[in-house]
Amino acid sequence: MNLENKAAALLWIAKFEDLPDPIQLSLKEKADLIEEEGYLLQFEKGKVIVTSKSDIGLLYGTFALLRKIQTREKLEELSEIENPKIQKRLLNHWDNLNRTVERGYAGFSIWNWHRLPRHIDQQYIDYARANASIGINGTSITNVNANALVLTPEYLEKAAALADAFRPYGIKVYLTARFNAPMVLDNLPTADPLDPEVQQWWKDKTREIYTYIPDFGGFLVKADSEGQPGPHNYGRTQADGANMLADAVQPFGGIVMWRAFVYNEHTPTDRIRQAYDEFKPLDGKFRENVIVQVKNGPLDFQPREPFHPLFGAMPETPLMMEFQITKEYLGQDTHWVNLASMWEEVLQSDTYAKGPGSTVSKVLDGSLHDYKLTGIAGVSNIGTDRNWTGHQTAQADWYAFGQLAWNPEQNIEKIAEDWIRMTFSNDTEVINTMKGIMLNSYEILVNYMTPLGLHHIMARSHHWGPGPWVTGGGRDDWTATYYHKANSDSIGFDRTETGSNALAQYAAEWKEIWGDAETIPLEFLLWFHRVLWNKKLSTGNTLWDELAISYQKGVEGARWMQQEWNKLEGLIDPDRFKHIASFLKIQVNEAEWWRDACLLYFGQYSKMPLPEGVEAPKHDLNYYLNFKRNFVPGI
Ligand code: GCU
Repeated sequence: MNLENKAAALLWIAKFEDLPDPIQLSLKEKADLIEEEGYLLQFEKGKVIVTSKSDIGLLYGTFALLRKIQTREKLEELSEIENPKIQKRLLNHWDNLNRTVERGYAGFSIWNWHRLPRHIDQQYIDYARANASIGINGTSITNVNANALVLTPEYLEKAAALADAFRPYGIKVYLTARFNAPMVLDNLPTADPLDPEVQQWWKDKTREIYTYIPDFGGFLVKADSEGQPGPHNYGRTQADGANMLADAVQPFGGIVMWRAFVYNEHTPTDRIRQAYDEFKPLDGKFRENVIVQVKNGPLDFQPREPFHPLFGAMPETPLMMEFQITKEYLGQDTHWVNLASMWEEVLQSDTYAKGPGSTVSKVLDGSLHDYKLTGIAGVSNIGTDRNWTGHQTAQADWYAFGQLAWNPEQNIEKIAEDWIRMTFSNDTEVINTMKGIMLNSYEILVNYMTPLGLHHIMARSHHWGPGPWVTGGGRDDWTATYYHKANSDSIGFDRTETGSNALAQYAAEWKEIWGDAETIPLEFLLWFHRVLWNKKLSTGNTLWDELAISYQKGVEGARWMQQEWNKLEGLIDPDRFKHIASFLKIQVNEAEWWRDACLLYFGQYSKMPLPEGVEAPKHDLNYYLNFKRNFVPGI
């Protein structure tokens, strides 16, 4: 028997209806459980079988089988039905038409708009394949700070060429819609969502888009946020804006992903309250094909935030998650941090919306509120860098996002292990060492950047490195001092009843746990409370000592990651070994930079000495205040 026949005899990859009758008969019960995008992997009658009801299910199943082979699972034990738990699983590219990427740290945009549609680069196909291998089924290809030009024929032709390239891999294209596009592109006097002429403009524009992209997924919209136009400009609600677009895409089966990241420097309340204050009263007022896209936390992708209080608070409005895969606030291109650890923390947070166990994950998969539409988006971390993501290990974040989008209940240790096995090695020492680094990396980073619930203390504008001194400059809510409020006796933001009362947006269970400065887990202490520098904490340390010790722990953690990695020399190919080793050196230096800059700055207020075991800063505060770099990427 030649190899080809032997393989054919051992492996069947076919849609269920195309399997031989005896196999159909024995798998019938299982096959009934396969949904549209799902698949069944089964070892049956001496054969490995991959089957599904659709072509895309078959592709997903085949990738799953490859994963099992790469990770050395026993094929004789295969018996697995997999269906995605979330319907819309998207990457959001913050890519501009000039190929810069907002908050992108892996080179330029992979969309070569100038060459499109004339040239379809192999990279587009590789991109689609990579995404299909992790179950991503949609991509929003343009920045949320949108350029209306993408809605013109010149760019629709290009977007259509990308859509054609992605279609065989089950990936739909979505576009970001600039809210005032009718004014920008066609000189309409207004973009008021209740104006019939504006509504007609969007209907016509949408019909035009569908002539280019017949399976166009729909619009992603950032409105009334950070200078973007929106319904507020006309005294209208977010629902008015979203519904206008929803009506335009509805006849074609499209959806609108309307972002809840709405806040304004002129609104006098605490910034983190604003999305909830605005959206909660609109629950049930959105069309059925609208899904509100909510960031994981109420501020803005900080290293650690409590889950966004809108999760669990909108039973009548489908909500989708927005995670940031690109590491704007978590070390950007050079820090190794396993984002799945952060995402798991959020996904497993209990909203208590319907009693204990009402996790964010259940909000997203639709089971908690019986949502008809479900979704999850990750802000992409890829670019033109040879390794796609800048840091070799940032590929793990892209991979983990896909895995958690498919099933937000997945075990993150298994996700990390599979990724290591497939990307580096099946050697036990490599697996255990890398997994150890990955599973500890998140806590380590939080410690050296924003321990004890500190947030938004990064440098201005490019957000690279520490900037607890950032103050003034026109927008208070874009400063660090707005958030930490350090003075000579205390530090932290009072968000309890005596302060902004943002805490009131959470369930009673959380109010009890987080409302009390004595019992709140230390990780959120300064997020919710102002605390005296010399206050004794549950650890026995004063707040100041605890802060300093946490920063020191973070630095030691980064050094530990470096030492662990160095043990793998010889077990990893030299190129990638050196690349990661070099980045770890940067990570250790930057961890020290964060610690020294923050402790020197806050130390001016606490006026307390560094506790034993915390290293003296390398420079004085002036050095850090004056440390400036030009052209930091990602702006
Ligand atoms: C952050 C980020 C911006 C981005 C914004 C958003 O504020 O710094 O670059 O546009 O989030 O999510 O819309």
